Amino acid sequence: MNAALPPNATIGIVGGGQLGRMSAMAAARLGYRAHVLTPEEDSPAAQVSASVTIGDYEDVAALRRFAEAVDVITFEFENVSAEGLDLLASLRPVRPSPDALRVSQDRVLEKSFVNANGVPTAPWQAVEDVASLRDAAARLGFPCILKTTRLGYDGKGQALLRGPADVAPAYADLDPKPLILEGFVDFGAEISVVVARGLDGSVSVFDTVENRHREHILDLTLAPAPIPEALAAGAQEIAAKLAGALGLVGLLAVEMFVDATGRVLVNEIAPRPHNSGHWTIDACPASQFELHVRAVAGLPLPAATRHSDAVMKNLVGPEETALWPTVLATPGLIPHLYGKSEARPGRKMGHVTRLFPRGALPGAHGIAAALGPLATSFRMDPE
Ligand SMILES: Nc1ncnc2c1ncn2[C@@H]1O[C@H](COP(=O)(O)OP(=O)(O)O)[C@@H](O)[C@H]1O
Ligand SMILES: [Mg+2]
Repeated sequence: MNAALPPNATIGIVGGGQLGRMSAMAAARLGYRAHVLTPEEDSPAAQVSASVTIGDYEDVAALRRFAEAVDVITFEFENVSAEGLDLLASLRPVRPSPDALRVSQDRVLEKSFVNANGVPTAPWQAVEDVASLRDAAARLGFPCILKTTRLGYDGKGQALLRGPADVAPAYADLDPKPLILEGFVDFGAEISVVVARGLDGSVSVFDTVENRHREHILDLTLAPAPIPEALAAGAQEIAAKLAGALGLVGLLAVEMFVDATGRVLVNEIAPRPHNSGHWTIDACPASQFELHVRAVAGLPLPAATRHSDAVMKNLVGPEETALWPTVLATPGLIPHLYGKSEARPGRKMGHVTRLFPRGALPGAHGIAAALGPLATSFRMDPE
């Protein structure tokens, strides 16, 4: 199927979280119906979708029912098994392709792919057992970061190794195996780029943004990244190149470090909408979610332009969620809530965007002031 999906067609979204919710809302605006596959009753995505299949991602019958109910399949959650992906792809067009998903599911395949395209990462080594971990640590030096190759998110499935005494306990703790060891990058900034690639190979790249994490969870995104223009442009080129090399149809988010010497290193890639692209809903004529839906539906891609500068602040856990009424009462804060019933610690419940005229993104103090009630709940280095 190479033709554009007609209005009222159904886009199947694997995953029921907030990325699926915002994709479904963008799909609705373009005249499509969303059908969500999720194991969860009352998921954020299903709340705003035309229909839902409740079932496990590995349940063959559920995957089949889901696929047969939709016209094209995409993802907000990419950890479906190889067999599951093959089954989906045998029934409907799957965008991005199972091959692109497999690369990003596994940190070893991912880093091999990135390096094979001439793009640097942190130094890394695959770890099969404790002995190979000791070898890898001797080569990469301490501190270093041990990670599961699969299923990690928000810093889960990783451990910082400060010295030889940390090796054996960290190896025993981390699951599932196998693992990967990465050299520790003493980064000056974490940045990311979201790129959309259409069915016709055309590419639209959003501006490079800076991301600040708290306890390994994204806290703040600054758009555009306050870094030198050449670095920001270099990061965009990397993202476009990797999307092309994957033959991607859909969105690719590329997380990167700017190291102490000003080099851009790729940390990880995700072939789906990304938390660091939420600012695009309010600061761009076409958001990452619209570009996602357009790419998956075979529609033309508009340029990923930005009409405003923006700061995006995540609302994480019970404390920040408790500020919701105050957020609503604060002029200038653009509120987004995801429909989750329980605000557990570390859970992303919503986000807030604050816009500034293009070129007028303030420094730390200005951002703190502009975030009003949320200013106290984030850390930023002094200017
Ligand atoms: N090699 C590294 N050197 C320094 N910091 C790292 C390294 N790898 C990860 N981190 C830090 O941990 C965070 C989460 O790691 P990441 O690999 O992005 O996993 P995930 O986002 O899947 O949890 C990164 O955003 C970064 O702050
Ligand atoms: Mg990450």
